[in-house]
Amino acid sequence: MGQSSAILLRCMLAMTLAALCCAASAQQAASAPASAAMKGPPAGFVAPPEPQPNETNAQRAKTQPGNNAPFWRQVRQSGENEGFSTLPGAEKGVLIQRFVQYPGSRVTNAGEAWRQVRDRWIIPYGGALLFIVLLALALFYWRKGPIGGHEPDTGRQIERFTPFERAAHWTNAIAFVLLAVSGLVMAFGKALLLPLIGHTLFGWLTYALKNIHNFAGPLFAVSLLVVIVTFVRDEMFESADWAWLRRFGGLFGGAEVPPPRFNAGEKVLFWIGALALGVVVVSSGLVLDKLLPGLDYLRGDMQLAHMVHATAAVLMMAAFLGHIYMGTIGMKGAYKAMRHGQVDEAWAKEHHALWYEDIRAGKIPAQRSQPEPPPMTRGA
Ligand code: HEM
Repeated sequence: MGQSSAILLRCMLAMTLAALCCAASAQQAASAPASAAMKGPPAGFVAPPEPQPNETNAQRAKTQPGNNAPFWRQVRQSGENEGFSTLPGAEKGVLIQRFVQYPGSRVTNAGEAWRQVRDRWIIPYGGALLFIVLLALALFYWRKGPIGGHEPDTGRQIERFTPFERAAHWTNAIAFVLLAVSGLVMAFGKALLLPLIGHTLFGWLTYALKNIHNFAGPLFAVSLLVVIVTFVRDEMFESADWAWLRRFGGLFGGAEVPPPRFNAGEKVLFWIGALALGVVVVSSGLVLDKLLPGLDYLRGDMQLAHMVHATAAVLMMAAFLGHIYMGTIGMKGAYKAMRHGQVDEAWAKEHHALWYEDIRAGKIPAQRSQPEPPPMTRGA
């Protein structure tokens, strides 16, 4: 092949390629409008509006079917803007309470804030306080043993508590013990008892104790009032009490400072433990029992009442552990005095010397109630 024919062949090849390229781009241009027309909305279609942040659940069902965010947002904010409910009664449109910060909780909805105060403060610190008091009393008993009993009995009796005083005291004490045991199981049982006795027994036990607690509460309230009125006269502070307080009655060394009928320790417990804490525990307990008229008993009220009640009750139990210790194993002859009403003159002189002197001086009768008639003898 000559040089001219080779050039001719190359020219023909170039022309063929150019023609092919032109045909391809023409075909592409022709097909573009057709595919664009196929991707667009069908005729008559009206696009829904874009979802908006403030729309109702009904609107959101149209803008984004299946998305219920506005509904749940309303539920969460129902503490601020109460929702609609056909149920009768207050607060029925509030599914989640408003956000608050109770002392010791984070800023969160009130139910959760209450839970945090109970579980992070009242239960652990209350439990620790009661444990420390028990430990201190056990140590005191270990080092000192029961106090008193140094004077030999004379056989002459003085009436320390009348039958009425004892009846009021023991009614109140029994109600207190029922409340304390049931309250402790409700507060600490889940952590301490449940793992030992299992869910079935624990469920029955707490159910029974909760009902006992609810009924013993009003009994405690009434009997506490009677106890306070009965003893208040002899619980008034007098000058001799300050010396007793300064030396803590000689409990930790030295002679016992002579007190009147009740010593200053008993008086402090009376005013702070029985009266002040008693009023707080009883009034918050009556709120929890829904026994006070004129209140709405909303969830927030009940949470506040519970936190106040549990805190004051723990303090009261801690205070009365000392009283129960002294009234049972801590002081010789004390339990007998409240059980039978009578004490030996030696006991009165040793523990309540000023009271004993007043009795000796005739200022206070040694027997205040009508003495029991002697037992009938056979044939009389
Ligand atoms: C198991 C529980 C209790 C026991 C064993 C107990 C025992 C005693 C004893 C032995 C006395 C006589 C003390 C003395 O002669 O000076 C006494 C007095 C007294 N108790 Fe109790 N008690 C108990 C619970 C309570 C409770 C719950 C309260 C009231 C909230 C209370 C209020 C008083 C009062 C006001 C007195 C008169 C003298 C004082 O102020 O200590 N007691 N108790």
